[in-house]
Amino acid sequence: MVGAERAAFNGGASFKPERPDVYGAAHPKDLLRAIEEEHDHLLSLANSHIVSSAQFSRRLLLQLFRLAAKFEANPDRFTTPVKPLSDKLLISAFYEPSTRTRLSFESAWHRLGGDIMSITDRQSTGIAKGESLSDVAEMFNNYGDCVVLRDSGVNSVTEMMETLRIPIINAGNGVDEHPTQALADLYTILKWQPDLTKDDTDKKIRIAIVGVPNRMRTVRSFLIMLARFSNIVDEVVVVHDGKSDPLYAPDQKESLVKDGLNIRETTKLHSILPEMDVVYINSIAWVKNDFEVMGNDFALDINSPFKKDAIILHPLARGEELCTSLDNSVHNWYFAQARGAVFIRMALLTCMVQRTEMVMDVI
Ligand code: CP
Repeated sequence: MVGAERAAFNGGASFKPERPDVYGAAHPKDLLRAIEEEHDHLLSLANSHIVSSAQFSRRLLLQLFRLAAKFEANPDRFTTPVKPLSDKLLISAFYEPSTRTRLSFESAWHRLGGDIMSITDRQSTGIAKGESLSDVAEMFNNYGDCVVLRDSGVNSVTEMMETLRIPIINAGNGVDEHPTQALADLYTILKWQPDLTKDDTDKKIRIAIVGVPNRMRTVRSFLIMLARFSNIVDEVVVVHDGKSDPLYAPDQKESLVKDGLNIRETTKLHSILPEMDVVYINSIAWVKNDFEVMGNDFALDINSPFKKDAIILHPLARGEELCTSLDNSVHNWYFAQARGAVFIRMALLTCMVQRTEMVMDVI
């Protein structure tokens, strides 16, 4: 019996195939082959809180991407009969809207055999009666094995960490960070060009960031994580509308430059597009429980002057900045980015709840 048949027979959820017309040569097996296994790095994630992209070393990232690629290359091998998260409970608390992050975390956990308690409205908890986040976290210790939190408050994750004894993942804390989105972003780039994982590669890519690093948590987390791979980045060009002041948070650019990124800014998207290998676009900046759409002066469509093989990344949800005319083009890697998020989250969760060894033996 093959994987998908076996999953159906056992009642497990099998993965739908990716869209080959859109994803071109992207194949997780190439990434799996490119990265040598050194899985001891993954053990450092056991029972760890995930707050910022800055926590991840290059070696740890490579091993996470390898494990994610292993899940993606053979998804049904890990859903049945292995079920590494069976008897584990996830508390999924999303106090801000989310399509991808909540559902991909929950999909990842379910697919690995775990159970979930989901809170989508903070008003349905004691917070509505004035209960502190640290008291809520004290209770969470009794009810689950891991927490995923999205909250508009920049300090919410750290307030919960005061009393949490189970690990928590920051799934977006206001304008601050969204580290697991950055994992999905970088995982996509490395599946696109697995050779970029090699320490001795002389390949370099140019990346346009269309957005405001000061105001967008996805961009903030992506840039920090990208700096771990500064050896493969020729330059980062931040494309902005000239209206966002300041463009960077205090010390943000200095810190990224110190970590090896070569960054410049422009307001002329179309003049730099023909040189860019990766175009990362976003327009949403979170402000408390609401959002602002920024940089709408820039829009990409099928007639934009892309380099022939350039890829577009977008954390989504999209607005007018990303035209649907690109969806069936070779530049569309944003759907692959969203799909891959399930596998990178499967990898992260497995390591955090100390089930790494259960999946390392599966080939
Ligand atoms: N990428 C992302 O954070 O999307 P959601 O807001 O839908 O979770």
